[in-house]
Amino acid sequence: CLKVVTIGGGSSYTPELIEGFIKRHKELPVKELWLVDIEEGKEKLEIVGSLAKRMVKKAGIDMEIHLTLDRREALKDANFVTTQLRVGLLEARIKDERIPLSHGLIGQETNGAGGLFKALRTVPVVFDIIKDIEELCPNAWLINFTNPTGIISEAVFKYTNFKKYIGLCNVPIHLKNDVAKLFQVEPDRIYMEFGGLNHMVYGLKVCLDGKDVTKEAIERFITTKISMENIKAIDFNPEFVRALGAIPCPYHRYYYKTKEMLVEELDEFKKGKARGQVVKELEDQLFELYKDESLDIKPPQLEKRGGAYYSDAACNLISSIYNNKQDIQVVNTLNNGAIRNFKDDHAIEVSSIITSQGPKPLSIGYLPECTDGLVSQIKSFESLAAKAAVTGDYETALLALCINPLVPSDDIAKVVLDEMMEAHKEYLPQF
Ligand code: G6P
Ligand code: MN
Ligand code: MN
Repeated sequence: CLKVVTIGGGSSYTPELIEGFIKRHKELPVKELWLVDIEEGKEKLEIVGSLAKRMVKKAGIDMEIHLTLDRREALKDANFVTTQLRVGLLEARIKDERIPLSHGLIGQETNGAGGLFKALRTVPVVFDIIKDIEELCPNAWLINFTNPTGIISEAVFKYTNFKKYIGLCNVPIHLKNDVAKLFQVEPDRIYMEFGGLNHMVYGLKVCLDGKDVTKEAIERFITTKISMENIKAIDFNPEFVRALGAIPCPYHRYYYKTKEMLVEELDEFKKGKARGQVVKELEDQLFELYKDESLDIKPPQLEKRGGAYYSDAACNLISSIYNNKQDIQVVNTLNNGAIRNFKDDHAIEVSSIITSQGPKPLSIGYLPECTDGLVSQIKSFESLAAKAAVTGDYETALLALCINPLVPSDDIAKVVLDEMMEAHKEYLPQF
């Protein structure tokens, strides 16, 4: 009897996940899906939970949906646990974005100062969940979609003994689907090899029906505005991308177009439209829709969120572990020599063979030399951020922020750090 537990089940993304389980019910016969949330999320859990039940009923499949605020009750004997929680809700995200912007820094919830604080709030909660899993369902896999996935993965592998952890992001599958569109073919004819770090992953190789078409893919890529809903599709410089020789991910704009992205973000910031504020409006609309008793499918409006294809990523992964498919998917996992730029015990994002024993990363070798400096710098940042989140050491947090490439001044780093420490203090028990 296959039991899945989703923590943060009251999220507006839940219909994505339900749709994924419905589509795959033959190969992945989930019998029980437990949606777990906290007291503050109770109303959302009930609304989205009822929609989930209607979706399952309409699909005519045999899957029980349980709604609960009792995480420990839910976790008992689970086979898979997924996390899509947001510590401090959207209010905290808005602070992660707006406080850096108010000091002239990029305000992004997973990169720069925002990413650091999201990690400081989230790592302790994920560690608590892991403790419960070790006690209540020690054989379960934990699939973490909660951001910042890269830093959380680094923290789990370095500071816990829990091995059945996989970090997941929809950027690679989204990019692969977009590349398939460039060739006007179904995504399953495209194979794309990825390597790097979370929200810093490069498409290193593209094959169409098994034939290497990387060069052509890059040419097609530079004439289009591929991005994700949450990242403004400002063009990369075509000659730069050609010289890079790999396909950058949408988040690379923060590093290769820092100036343009900052101008863009400051503009939105002044209008009171930082991404978290926009998402808040979108969420209100989504929950209004979800309340409608006649709705029994995932509403298309959900595609305005950055998480498109999240359910495909999550459900494909669970199905491949469950069925020992040994197909290739992109996950955040332990390097173990796969990408030679990183240490063996670093968490990386990489194309991996997905087996019932977990992901086995493909051997990538070195990333293109022109990416060396940036990825190493981000890995140092992630390592320090993970350490700060676990130890609660102020100096380590400051160091993390000072070395982040999106933070151009140590003095500003300190000012922003102190302001954010104060703004988020109720969610930072370790400090
Ligand atoms: C992408 C990223 C996710 C992120 C999301 C934000 O999907 O991979 O990690 O959470 O965008 O989208 P939002 O609609 O919340 O801005
Ligand atoms: Mn992501
Ligand atoms: Mn898209």
